Amino acid sequence: MTLAFSLVTDPPALVASDAVVAGVYEDRSLSAAAAELDRAAGGAISRLLASGDVSGKPGAVTRLLGLGGVASGRVLLAGLGEPARLDAARFLKACTEAAKVLKTGPARRAAVYLPEIEVPGRDLAWRARTAAVAFDAQSYRYSATLKPRPNGDALAELALRAPGAGQALAQATAIAAGMRLARELGNLPPNICNPAYLAAAAANIAAAEAGVSLQVLERADMAQLGMGSLLGVARGSANPPKLIVLRYAGAGAGGTRPYALVGKGITFDTGGISIKPAAAMEEMKFDMMGAATVMGAFLAAVRMRLPLDLVCVVPAVENMPDGDSYRPGDVVTSMSGQTIEVVNTDAEGRLILCDALTYVQRFEPRAIVDVATLTGACVIALGKHAHGLMSRHDDLAGELLAAGEHSLDRAWRLPLWDDYQQQLESAFADMANVGGKSAGAITAACFLARFTDGQRWAHLDIAGTAWDEGRKGMATGRPVGLLAQWLIDRVGA
Ligand code: BES
Ligand code: MN
Ligand code: ZN
Repeated sequence: MTLAFSLVTDPPALVASDAVVAGVYEDRSLSAAAAELDRAAGGAISRLLASGDVSGKPGAVTRLLGLGGVASGRVLLAGLGEPARLDAARFLKACTEAAKVLKTGPARRAAVYLPEIEVPGRDLAWRARTAAVAFDAQSYRYSATLKPRPNGDALAELALRAPGAGQALAQATAIAAGMRLARELGNLPPNICNPAYLAAAAANIAAAEAGVSLQVLERADMAQLGMGSLLGVARGSANPPKLIVLRYAGAGAGGTRPYALVGKGITFDTGGISIKPAAAMEEMKFDMMGAATVMGAFLAAVRMRLPLDLVCVVPAVENMPDGDSYRPGDVVTSMSGQTIEVVNTDAEGRLILCDALTYVQRFEPRAIVDVATLTGACVIALGKHAHGLMSRHDDLAGELLAAGEHSLDRAWRLPLWDDYQQQLESAFADMANVGGKSAGAITAACFLARFTDGQRWAHLDIAGTAWDEGRKGMATGRPVGLLAQWLIDRVGA
């Protein structure tokens, strides 16, 4: 469950909540709401700012308890930095840091006045939505395989002062639900979240949401379609593969060509016979975050009731070493008819995606976006801040880059020139599944490009952005924000 969002109109000093959140600046000036609180409290906030006990530095949060003249027991002052330097990123940071202070309680309800703050180029709806999604993201807690913890005093209700921004809060609820779904699927251990579990999660969406239908293709169905590449990867696993096809008919009246999302769903990547080193291998449970985030974006679009048609295709497979595994040197035949020499069984993502990309073309999509934790090389190139974006279509790339900037879930484009294609040449098949040491993120995309001829297609490599690395690292939910914004922008486009 996401936080429950609502609009508040009360003045901040009078609102009956457990906590009030307002902004202050580094030059010791006050936001409108902070000034209202200050007046009610007889100038206490100004005095604390002057003495340095309250900081307006970006990201600083000060908690004041029992402020006289203020109805709520807690006041949180979030630092916004210098007024002239306030931008979208700093606004988001203020929301995120305030949310971190509040997330574990004891306040169950908070009234947030941050959306009133003017941010260059961002309207009130954006500010309300961004604040709501940021608070929800901080409030998410993983609990599925932990001993039950009392959750009674955690933040649950968020009221925001953002006059007229009701639709923005409805969007925030939908996007937050999509991000939570993606994060939960990613955080679940790989012995639970296997291909059948992803299919069951898709079935839950289809059962709960109007206008959604589901088809799950089994191994035999995929064999019939000739998906020899996907099925090659699946051979080593006792968990049978699934090809999940979720469809949403939102356009009405006979339907239109859909937008298509395709997500890599490797529920665990050992590397197969080209086995990975033991260090941090457990993080390869996140190798299905492409799948999780396209399902999350799909859910967000459905919950927003966007008037468009959407198809979401998830190849769900586990990559394991076994007596029946595919091997380095094997040649497999993809659904497209092209043959592939498997030089490295750890380059499995592209092998399941190529068949999914061929399959999705039967829906005659307006555009195809695939999302995948595809290459370690992308992590080296861009780190954890930007998704890698590769596309031959400048207009589609531009749409996705813009959606990333708007949602602060940013991507950065890498070239996808044919010059790189020669790295995939093979003496034994139409192509090899690896392109050598250099430009690994690009050659992986070049491989996928061979299966999207004539399509408007873009690829997002989220290997660096999908989760926070390390033993306590959690799924981020990215790029649900970017994808949801891209779909919002498509309405009427
Ligand atoms: N899932 C991995 C990519 C990955 C690695 C994502 C580390 C996040 C962190 C993918 O299946 C893989 O193993 N890719 C190989 C490709 C190589 C064999 C060409 C890689 O990046 O090393
Ligand atoms: Mn791999
Ligand atoms: Zn992988």
